[in-house]
Amino acid sequence: MLISEFLASDYKEQHFVVVLGHPVSHSKSPAIHNAALAYHQLNVRYHALDCPESEQQLIPELFAHPNFIGSNVTIPLKKRIVSYLDELDETASEIGAVNTVVPDGKGLLVGYNTDSYGFMAPLKQVHGIHTAVVLGTGGASRAVCYALSTFGVEKLYLVSRTSKKQENHSDFPSDVQRIGYDALGDAIRHSELIVNTTPVGMHPATGHSPMPEQCLPLLADKYCYDIIYNPPETTLLKKAKAHGAQTIGGLDMFIHQAARSFELWFDKPMPLQLVRKVLLDMISNSKS
Ligand code: ATR
Repeated sequence: MLISEFLASDYKEQHFVVVLGHPVSHSKSPAIHNAALAYHQLNVRYHALDCPESEQQLIPELFAHPNFIGSNVTIPLKKRIVSYLDELDETASEIGAVNTVVPDGKGLLVGYNTDSYGFMAPLKQVHGIHTAVVLGTGGASRAVCYALSTFGVEKLYLVSRTSKKQENHSDFPSDVQRIGYDALGDAIRHSELIVNTTPVGMHPATGHSPMPEQCLPLLADKYCYDIIYNPPETTLLKKAKAHGAQTIGGLDMFIHQAARSFELWFDKPMPLQLVRKVLLDMISNSKS
């Protein structure tokens, strides 16, 4: 549904939360948030609203609606949404991207980024990460680098296929070194954690992996974290596990970023087991 269709419909008569993106119909966020809303018996509905360029002018009207409770924001709007907001919390401001919008109750719209919180959730129990490798240099990579940097990781190898873009990480506490895939082997040898933030291996092209075959034996005893959650175990993680790595999939990150957003809007916990089951059911159904 487009924002314009939503604003012309009866859906807006009930309190609502939305996720804005383009395209957005594939989003799994409505399913897990609506399950959490039903669990808490809250009379609020979460909708996925498609927001192509032509609809962006409607964002202020949507956010000013009396039934608006809050919003998630996804690709390609995580940076652009900032111009519609009044304030950013520190994490969103450092990352330069927002995935959660919360009205402060006094007429101001505040932007948060819960992706880095979600990313860190499965690493809470992990100690001794001094150096890490991050594959990919897009928006998700920046949230991951920020999270690792504030977690105390001293050195980050940022791996890119190209030397063209020059994203700036000089504001992060870690030493961030940009390298090519030709230098990946050496970087892995010096690291305890390898993170994939590229879309390679994501549904439906699940057979692919961003890791060159010759680097796989170097993953023994390392942590290998893929932020992709569909499939829950990517080809990269299967191969890494077969070579003796400890693997972490993207489901926890997805669930915990959603849980943090839910808390910001409702001050209530997301029922984690329930939403994990809802998400896994959706993923296995989408395969058939
Ligand atoms: P974003 O995170 O900005 O939405 P994305 O399409 O999900 O973008 O891709 C994230 C990053 O993965 C890209 O910035 C790209 O980084 P580099 O260009 O620096 O390598 C990387 N990426 C995208 N497609 C890729 C592919 N087919 N193989 C390897 N890396 C890829």
